[in-house]
Amino acid sequence: MQYTKINNRRYLGNKYRLLPFITNVIANECGHFSSFADVFAGTGAVSSAFIDKKIITNDILYSNYLCHLTWFSNEPHDIKKIENYIEYFNSDLSYEENYMTENFSNTYFSDVVCSRIGYVREFIENEFVNGKINLKEKAMLITSLLYGLDKIANTCGHYDAFRKNVELSSSLVLSVPSPNNDLKQNECFNCDTNELVKNIVSDVVYIDPPYNSRQYCDAYHLVENIARWEKPVVHGIAKKMDRTALKSRYCTRSAPDAFNELIKNINAKYIVVSYNNMATKGNDRSNAKISDIELITALESKGAVKVFSEQFKAFTTGKSEHTDNEERLFVCRCN
Ligand SMILES: C[S@@+](CC[C@H](N)C(=O)[O-])C[C@H]1O[C@@H](n2cnc3c(N)ncnc32)[C@H](O)[C@@H]1O
Repeated sequence: MQYTKINNRRYLGNKYRLLPFITNVIANECGHFSSFADVFAGTGAVSSAFIDKKIITNDILYSNYLCHLTWFSNEPHDIKKIENYIEYFNSDLSYEENYMTENFSNTYFSDVVCSRIGYVREFIENEFVNGKINLKEKAMLITSLLYGLDKIANTCGHYDAFRKNVELSSSLVLSVPSPNNDLKQNECFNCDTNELVKNIVSDVVYIDPPYNSRQYCDAYHLVENIARWEKPVVHGIAKKMDRTALKSRYCTRSAPDAFNELIKNINAKYIVVSYNNMATKGNDRSNAKISDIELITALESKGAVKVFSEQFKAFTTGKSEHTDNEERLFVCRCN
């Protein structure tokens, strides 16, 4: 039986490799604190570094919310039961036609793998509806499926397109997520962060919004589709579902307004913001949506601001690589 950890996943903007920098700055600047809100949590990697605190996570994508329940919810779960399900999902299952084969065969996954994904996802749904597994256990099984399919997807990490004329994997191997057993009374949310912050209080609020016009719901439409399992109609070569309700203002021209409104409504001792320095360096799509001056002005309305930086390798879709990119942390000590 294979086991998996939180960072065993590809995700744009994942801060796992920046954790030493982030945790150092927070330890030095915020001292002792007892609650940490990761309000654009993505994979949840940053929260995982604060497991000894009460954690609040949030993400607009339901697929990420399920992963957060897996890693952070303290609802009891039966690990033996999870292991038995995963063993079954990895066994010889007979081929069937289903939503996945009908819509995605030989695109991101082979026909055989699509059949298995569709069968497993439907099985998990039925077990939950029939009361055989609780929400944490459902989340763990879906997380296992999402992490497993990420390993063999015919993509370069996101689902904007699939490669043609390549050999597709015919096997999907699932691993058992192994969350920490000593979790606090954490809370996981799945909503727009600008709404969430009106209703939470936390010592530290960590903000890691999208930086540019690349919408996460576009990049991860298939992961989200499988997590939600509403079996929507899909369109175009990339086979995307309707994502209107999942679009983020942080990827649009109104990002500075959204950020201002967000900061105004936060109730915290410290606000820590991750943002890179790609303001005008990349191509139009990778340029940051909020300027430094806009970031700092919004934060200074709450208290004194300090900026820390670390070199990093930028994500680019085009030919030009930028070597002078910095990942910055803006720390605001709220008045
Ligand atoms: C840069 S990523 C966060 C990465 C994360 N820190 C990690 O280490 O994996 C930004 C995240 O914000 C989410 N997001 C974008 N707009 C949002 C909004 N308005 N409310 C909640 N989540 C949002 C995206 O789905 C994405 O997962």
